[in-house]
Amino acid sequence: MKNTTVERMLQSQGFGTRRECRSLVLDGRVTLNGEPCDDPQQRISPEGLPFTVDDESWVCHEKVYLMLHKPAGYECSRLPTYHPSVFALLPPQLVARGVQCVGRLDEDTTGLLLLTDDGQFIHAMGSGKRKVPKVYEVTIKHPMSDAQIAQLLAGVQLHDEPEPVTASACERIDEQHIRLTLTSGKYHQVKRMVAAVENRVEALHRSVVGEWTLPPDLPIGKWQWIHPQT
Ligand code: URA
Repeated sequence: MKNTTVERMLQSQGFGTRRECRSLVLDGRVTLNGEPCDDPQQRISPEGLPFTVDDESWVCHEKVYLMLHKPAGYECSRLPTYHPSVFALLPPQLVARGVQCVGRLDEDTTGLLLLTDDGQFIHAMGSGKRKVPKVYEVTIKHPMSDAQIAQLLAGVQLHDEPEPVTASACERIDEQHIRLTLTSGKYHQVKRMVAAVENRVEALHRSVVGEWTLPPDLPIGKWQWIHPQT
């Protein structure tokens, strides 16, 4: 991120128009590196800079990458139909920066959801070639037989899909739970695959996406920054 002025940095971080950001500084509502800042034109090296606005702490990042512990009852859409949107769980400054979901989870699915404003990252994570693993903890209606697990691993034919879709791993946890790893992300894929072997998903939770695992101490509905290496 190039050197810039304080007001431009605040604007880039979702704090409003240049004029609004200038007023925040002139009104004494901003600190940089723990020091009060009263000059909106002060030049700074922004990346990684800690700042506060109205005593709320931020770190300046050129791009937003975050993980959310998605609760049930939230839609991944920006304009949800029947339920609140996951974007309601994020600070308005990040929503203003245009973050999007990296793949969607159903309204009733819980767990790990990545969000970013980096279109290349979304593309790379969704690319079929990259085969990013996603791990789902699946609560099932009936115990899964060895034959059903073998079927999921060998591939099941879903309606409207040209080829059978496979699970890259499927582990039986107990009578009611399996852990399923997928490297593709088709609409309702877990529910449709489980239905294709004549079982039924009762609850669905995503625990892993690529290199990220949902931390046990991230409460439901809360988010945290992530730092992709690629
Ligand atoms: N598969 C589903 O069926 N639903 C999800 O939310 C994610 C994967």
